[in-house]
Amino acid sequence: MEILGLKRFQFLLVVCWFFVSLEAPAEAENTLCYKDFNEVSGTCSNLLGAEISKEDCCLNHQYGFQLKQGGPCQSCREAKWSEWTSWSACSVSCTEGVQRRSRSCYGYRPGTCLSGSREWEMKACVLKDCCPVMGGWSEWSNWKPCSVTCLTGTQLRERTCTKPAPNCGGTCQGDSRENRPCDTKQICPTHGNWGSWGSWQGCSKTCAIEGSATKPQQLRTRLCNNPSPSSNPPGMPCPGASQESRSCVGLPYCPQDGNWGIWKPLQSCSVTCGVGQILQRRLCDNPAPKHRGKDCSGESIRNQPCTIKVPCPVDGHWSEWSPWKPCGRMVLSYNIKCDDITGIQLRNRSCIGRHHAGKRCAGPLRESRACYNIEGCFMPGTWTDWSSWGLCEPACGPEPKRSRKRVCEPIYPNYSMVVEAENGRRDNVTFWGKPKAGCKPLDGQSKEVVEKLACQNVPPCEG
Ligand SMILES: *[C@@H]1O[C@H](CO)[C@@H](O)[C@H](O)[C@H]1NC(C)=O
Ligand SMILES: *[C@@H]1O[C@H](CO)[C@@H](O)[C@H](O)[C@H]1NC(C)=O
Ligand SMILES: *[C@@H]1O[C@H](CO)[C@@H](O)[C@H](O)[C@H]1NC(C)=O
Repeated sequence: MEILGLKRFQFLLVVCWFFVSLEAPAEAENTLCYKDFNEVSGTCSNLLGAEISKEDCCLNHQYGFQLKQGGPCQSCREAKWSEWTSWSACSVSCTEGVQRRSRSCYGYRPGTCLSGSREWEMKACVLKDCCPVMGGWSEWSNWKPCSVTCLTGTQLRERTCTKPAPNCGGTCQGDSRENRPCDTKQICPTHGNWGSWGSWQGCSKTCAIEGSATKPQQLRTRLCNNPSPSSNPPGMPCPGASQESRSCVGLPYCPQDGNWGIWKPLQSCSVTCGVGQILQRRLCDNPAPKHRGKDCSGESIRNQPCTIKVPCPVDGHWSEWSPWKPCGRMVLSYNIKCDDITGIQLRNRSCIGRHHAGKRCAGPLRESRACYNIEGCFMPGTWTDWSSWGLCEPACGPEPKRSRKRVCEPIYPNYSMVVEAENGRRDNVTFWGKPKAGCKPLDGQSKEVVEKLACQNVPPCEG
C-alpha cells in the first residue's frame, strides 16, 4: 500500500474507549444460541435454537448468543480483545489524511477487558502529495485548411490546456478540438483513368534469332480517356504506361548465314628453313549456316607463305680452275723446255660459297696432267686459211670495218701423245706453253695477214 511508502509517515495513535453496557438478563426465553461467534465482526452464525437460557448456551465457550432477535451478539467466552480490523481507507484522496482500525472486547465472562468495549487506532496517510488543480484553455487556434480541396469537407481548430496548465494530474474540461463544415467552392478535378487495352499489334520482326535474348516484340496501347483527366481544375494523368510490349511467340527462326572460322594449318610448313608454303583450311562453323541461311563463300583451303627463321644450307660449288701451273718435273731445276720429255703440271680449284652446313663439293680439289713444255720454243709454222669474217667494228663509231685473217700456226713436233702412267693407265699428254712459229713470209708478214673491208649501208646508232 502507498501508505507504507510515505516518507513523512507519522503514526498517530488515538485510543478511544467505548463503554457498552450489557443488557441485564431478563427474559431467558428470547435468548438465541449460536454455534459460531466471529470475533472480528462480532457476529453470530449457525443458530442452534431459541429459548435457550444464556447460561445453558454458554456452557460451551465457543458459542455466542443474542438476548433478542436483532440485538448485539455476545460471546460465551471470557472477555478478551478481538483481532484488529483492517485499516479504513484514507480519509482524503490527496494531501494528508488519516485511517483507523479498531478491536472489540467480547466475552460473557469477566476477562482481560470490559466486554462490549471497543478500542481504536488511527494513523496518518498520504495517498498523493498534492491535489489535482484544473487547468484553463488557451484561445482557439485559427481554423485549419479545409480537409478537402474541392467540394465540402470539414475544418478543424484546436486549443491547448495551458492557461493555466493543470497541476497534479488535473485536466481541462471540454474538448481540445472543434470541427465545422467547410466549402471550398471548387468542383473536384476528374482524374484520368485508362481505357481498355487495344489489341496486340504486329511483331517487330518476322523471325527470331536463335539463342538471342532479345525476342521480337509486339505492342499494345491504351488511352487515358475513361475518363480523360479534367484540365480545370487539373486532374491527375493516368498512372503507369500507355503502352506495353511482350515477346512474340511462335515465330520461325531467322536464317543464319554461315561465317568462316579461323584458318588452321593442315600440315606443317613445307620447308625446314627460310620461306615455304603451308596449306591452311577453315571451316564454315563460326557459326555454321542454320535455318536455310547462306553457306560461307570463298575458299576453304589456301596456301600461305610460311617462314622458318633458320637460314637454309648453301651447297658449295667449285671455283674456276686455276690456270695450269708451268709444266715441269718434280725437281724444278731439271729443265724439260722444248724437249721430248713429259712433265707434270697442276691446277687447283676451291669449293666456295658453302654456308650453314651445305654440301661439300664433290670431286678433286686439284688435277694434274702430263705435258710437254713448249713455252717460247721455236717451231716451224704454216699459214692457216682465211678465217671467217669478223664483226663490224666499231659497232657505233665512224667507218666501221670487218676483218679476216690468216695466222702463222706452229707445227707441233711428232711427240707421243700418250704416256704410260704410274698406275698402269695411259694418260694423254698436252702441249703447254706458247711456241714461236716460223712461217715463210706472206704479204711481207711473218705472223698474221689481216684483210679489212668497210661495212656497207650502216644506219646511225640509236640513242
Ligand atoms: C691453288 O693453290 C694455291 C696454293 O695453295 C692457292 O694460292 C690458290 O688460291 C689456289 N687456287 C684456287 C683457284 O683455289
Ligand atoms: C711420227 O713418228 C712415228 C715414229 O716415231 C712415225 O711412225 C710416224 O709416221 C710419224 N708421223 C708423222 C706424221 O710424221
Ligand atoms: C686421251 O685422248 C683421247 C682422244 O682425245 C680420249 O679419247 C681419251 O679418253 C684420253 N685419255 C685420257 C686418260 O684422258
